Amino acid sequence: MGIINWNAELLPYEQAVDEIVLKLKNIQREFKRRQIHSPIEQVEGRVKSIASIIAKANDRNIPIENALDVLEDIAGIRIICRFVEDIDKVVNIIRSRSDYDMKILIEEDYVTNTKRSGYRSYHITVEYKIMYEGEIRILKCEIQIRTLAMNFWATIEHSLRYKYDGNLPEHLKERLQNCAEAAFKLDKEMTTIRGELLQAQKAMQTQEFLVNEIVKNIHNLYTYGKVEHMNEFNKQFMQIYQEGNVDKLYEFNHKLETMAEIYNVRYV
Ligand code: GTP
Ligand code: MG
Repeated sequence: MGIINWNAELLPYEQAVDEIVLKLKNIQREFKRRQIHSPIEQVEGRVKSIASIIAKANDRNIPIENALDVLEDIAGIRIICRFVEDIDKVVNIIRSRSDYDMKILIEEDYVTNTKRSGYRSYHITVEYKIMYEGEIRILKCEIQIRTLAMNFWATIEHSLRYKYDGNLPEHLKERLQNCAEAAFKLDKEMTTIRGELLQAQKAMQTQEFLVNEIVKNIHNLYTYGKVEHMNEFNKQFMQIYQEGNVDKLYEFNHKLETMAEIYNVRYV
């Protein structure tokens, strides 16, 4: 067996992780730009450490020189969501890219099928293509999708598991199972207020949008020399704004748009 230049071998995986993280963050940004609740709350990426690769290969009796080809989580991405419902949405986003850049190899649903430990998460193993040193390389990448609550639990459990070298004492296992149950309940409770939160987000965004439009339209009327209208409309706007009624803001904006059309005011 030759000497493995680990750092060099892992560089393509780093590139793949960087590219996928960037793409997922752009999807998140797109939702925000369109003023829609983003199912992606956070994106993290990492390349497995050399120590973990060696340990995992040893555990599974994989010859170390085959480790990079056999192990599926050398490149790892974690997508954190606010609500359980968001997980499906993220899964569908990834499925929709399967013929494009993230070819799905395996899906594992530990959200529905909770592991004995209490672990919950949705795993997707994908094949991802990169251009590295002028050549096409196809790498595997494990994408884990979970809620904030699931992530909280998994992070704590992982640290404890590490501390006890994988052999957690019974009393701790039980405690952790109780914590998993509590995290599960938390996710369920959060779901019950999800609708309310989405409505609040939407109402706030609609109001912001209308205020922007109204101010812009009044400004345009002013720019086109319709001063008397600007003063009159400014007064009306303040009155309606203070009432806090979105429907009235909408109607008012519509009136301004019609006005702008009549006067043939073009947008600046
Ligand atoms: P491993 O990666 O060795 O676990 O092989 P696998 O693909 O057969 O396992 P699985 O798909 O169940 O898990 C892959 C990854 O999920 C692990 O590397 C962990 O990051 C995470 N995971 C799975 N089970 C647990 C668990 O009980 N606790 C925690 N904290 N993480 C887990
Ligand atoms: Mg797996």
